[in-house]
Amino acid sequence: MKENFDAQWRFHLGDPVGAEQPGYDDHSWRLLNLPHDWSIEGTFSRDNPATPGGGALPGGVGWYRKTFTVSEADRGKLFFIDFDGVYMDSRMWINGHYLGERPYGYSSFEYELTPYLHIGGKNVIAVRVDNSHQPNSRWYSGSGIYRNVWLIKTHPCYIDHWGVYVTTPHITNNEAVVRVQTTIRNRLGSTRNLQLQTRIEDATGKTVAENSVPLDAKADSLTVAQQLQVSDPHLWSTDDPYLYRVVSRIVANGQTIDDVITPLGIRYFHFDPRTGFSLNGKPMKIWGVCDHHDLGCLGAAIHERALERQLQMLKKMGVNGFRTSHNPPAPELLDLCDKLGILVMDEAFDCWKRGKNPYDYHIYWDQWHRRDLEDMIRRDRNHPSVIIWSIGNEIPDQWDSAGADIARELVGIVKSLDTTRPITSALNDPESPRNSIAHSGALDLIGYNYDVGAYDHFPENFPGMPFIATETTSALETRGHYDMPSDSIRVWPPRGNSHEKMNSDYTCSAYDNCCVPWGNLHEDALRAIMDHPFASGMFIWTGWDYLGEPTPYPWPARSSYFGIIDLAGFPKDIYYMYQSVWTQDTVLHIFPHWNWKPGDSVDVWAFYNHADEVELFLNGKSLGKRHKEPGQFHVMWRVAYEPGELKAVSYHNGQLVKTAVVRTAGAPYRIELIPDRSEIHADGRDLSFVTVKVVDQHGTLVPDADQLIHFDVQGAGFIAGTDNGNEIDHTSFPSHDRHAFNGLALVVVQSDGKKGTIQVKATAEGLQPAFINLSAQ
Ligand code: GAL
Repeated sequence: MKENFDAQWRFHLGDPVGAEQPGYDDHSWRLLNLPHDWSIEGTFSRDNPATPGGGALPGGVGWYRKTFTVSEADRGKLFFIDFDGVYMDSRMWINGHYLGERPYGYSSFEYELTPYLHIGGKNVIAVRVDNSHQPNSRWYSGSGIYRNVWLIKTHPCYIDHWGVYVTTPHITNNEAVVRVQTTIRNRLGSTRNLQLQTRIEDATGKTVAENSVPLDAKADSLTVAQQLQVSDPHLWSTDDPYLYRVVSRIVANGQTIDDVITPLGIRYFHFDPRTGFSLNGKPMKIWGVCDHHDLGCLGAAIHERALERQLQMLKKMGVNGFRTSHNPPAPELLDLCDKLGILVMDEAFDCWKRGKNPYDYHIYWDQWHRRDLEDMIRRDRNHPSVIIWSIGNEIPDQWDSAGADIARELVGIVKSLDTTRPITSALNDPESPRNSIAHSGALDLIGYNYDVGAYDHFPENFPGMPFIATETTSALETRGHYDMPSDSIRVWPPRGNSHEKMNSDYTCSAYDNCCVPWGNLHEDALRAIMDHPFASGMFIWTGWDYLGEPTPYPWPARSSYFGIIDLAGFPKDIYYMYQSVWTQDTVLHIFPHWNWKPGDSVDVWAFYNHADEVELFLNGKSLGKRHKEPGQFHVMWRVAYEPGELKAVSYHNGQLVKTAVVRTAGAPYRIELIPDRSEIHADGRDLSFVTVKVVDQHGTLVPDADQLIHFDVQGAGFIAGTDNGNEIDHTSFPSHDRHAFNGLALVVVQSDGKKGTIQVKATAEGLQPAFINLSAQ
């Protein structure tokens, strides 16, 4: 039995002596529910040791303690505690007994508690988390027990941790062969009269295949392989992510003594050196993004709904791929990708033996890499969404001859646990003969980071090898900010590291006209992938903005500009370019806003699809029709500004397809609150993301509104965080006051566990206030 173990932990920021002892007095410590990230509660400062690159928030050492009882009825059972992730370098004690240490903050791990528990009495688990050695990350990591914790209670004969491994060695239209390998642990001495029963259920819960085997070995560990057949399999794909589940049970005298459920998606795929990727025999491109793990103003603390929102917005844009840059993700991410139909490149490391920061993973490499990599593969290998293993991102050892040996070792580790997915590494200059990982012969799939100009030479440099663009783009945008003219391309920082050409207000332009020197504009990188048939797909840097790495600016910037969606969850204009190319939805998006100075020359862009031309009208007067030339993704008009209404109309064969309008906003202004969901679960975890807009009386966004808005939430919920997507905003995320940024802000409301109404109020000087009610049920 697996139960959530997140409730009622005591937390203390600091490193008190003796806190591992069961008798330590922790009553003055803060009481909280996990998951928890203490960094996100802190204050931005350039002096925080994480540096702005790490998000400019505090690190340090923190302790967590939880007191719990084990009932007499559970005597004879085995107890384990599972941590999905603790950042970082955690050490644990149960009742004063030291359990062990786990430096890597992204690994999931388990300890057995059985021998040290007081049955029928009180037990104390103590966790020390050390994120004081900084910098240790090139992005915001968060600090604490930031993922879920589970208590596992089993019979002495039980299915091992990550002990079920499901593969589909043979799939045809009529039948799928499902191979289930189950590792059973046994402390009973002998395993008489036991059975392993494995059943496959379809999405409706109907059993579609079954197999039982007697367990008669005396060994304390036993691995059993079973083959099951599913007829007329419903295949899993990105359009139709159909899931079966495998139910594994150990049965003694008709009674289930342990069971485990594993998701099963029946699908096959291939990376072809000439034609790229195919899923279930159908050629397709992987249209993916890279993302870091933070959830904006909620920090690193995993909130399933926040992650679901991120993935749903990406999926709506047409994304079908996700790279877990540059570390093993929360397990919930893979569950969601299984359900939503998103193909995952699951990545292990950002560095190996040679580091990128003084205290990053390289100092743990020798002792821990095997264990961390094995655990990632064991944990994640049943997810149908996972289709690529990545052993590392831009690994400095690629420039050492030793890099080849390490690559071979890592590939050997992965292959010993899973041979059903290709292994790649995200490389720089793979075509350089000096790149030891690229030429090690170890990789199944050559991963290019950037380097678009070298794609043409790929087939001759890597004959017979398949290609994936593991990372592309790194374009830069601030939502709602526009630099004219839009066709002047800015590469920032200019080579030579001078910041002189950068904007004094730390903004980048939201036209697709800004990128880093090693990257490309969105449209250029997309075109490169489309133009190369061997290119399996791309992972854009990045889907969402993230905390840390505020390229191209130094402090006061503290979060990234790379996202297609800003940190608060508001799409930048380029979102609609992808939507117009990658989805079947009818798209017509025009920008920028229509509040300029009379006489300004304004570039108006349109992204559209399902149409052969677009006509633009200013105050009813046609400014002409435009259409995209092959290889183009937008059209543009250069317009002499006059206030009023700008309207675009798209046509197909002369028939109107869609219209889009932007208007000049004028006072008086008011606040508008738009929740993503007005009914949430009263489970203490669910969230409503409330968009806060400053609009005029016609509902037109006020594009430069920056009023300080105060939020007040009463009833069955509380404010989990506020944000606005501004990369230089230093108001701390838990604050109930937040400036609008280019007209928008966000307040995240969380259920407090009780049922009822949640009243949300937003007020600001000079604006009509807004009130809405949410409901927690
Ligand atoms: C890449 C790197 C990413 C990120 C990106 C920014 O080289 O892999 O982690 O730093 O650059 O452009």
